Amino acid sequence: MVEETLVLIKPDGVARNLTGEILRRIEAKGYSLVDIRLVQPERSVLAEHYAEHEGKPFYEPLVEFMLSGPIVAIRVAGNRVIEGFRMLAGTTDPTLAAPGTIRGDLGRDWGLKVQQNLVHGSDSPESAARELDLWFS
Ligand code: RTP
Ligand code: MG
Repeated sequence: MVEETLVLIKPDGVARNLTGEILRRIEAKGYSLVDIRLVQPERSVLAEHYAEHEGKPFYEPLVEFMLSGPIVAIRVAGNRVIEGFRMLAGTTDPTLAAPGTIRGDLGRDWGLKVQQNLVHGSDSPESAARELDLWFS
């Protein structure tokens, strides 16, 4: 079975009208868009999504940021897409993310309590299965 991952275009990406540019990069890489929705998630969905970060200093600002506007959720398929999309996204801190990546080319530090870095991608097969269930059920 072909691997699938959950990609989120975070509220900063949607607000900055970068949805098309981010989808273009996923498609240009050769991955397939299987499902896509524009969502305004409940706090409970975000609490479950970011449960691993509960208690960290950036947790509350992160949840507030993710509630600040619509999110585009995408089910993306392809061999090794979990690893491949994380490479397309670049590292978490957009200042340090390599040029050529989504975060490196399109993101920057805005001096806020949490890094706004445009996209989320599942980090393992277990996370992908859990997150796809959460966002597409
Ligand atoms: P994501 O889960 O969103 O794909 O990002 P990631 O794996 O690269 O980063 P992770 O460590 O899971 O952190 C989740 C999100 O929290 C925000 N963050 N800000 N020190 C900070 O300001 C900080 N640390 C984390 C980012 O939005 C990050 O993507
Ligand atoms: Mg993560």
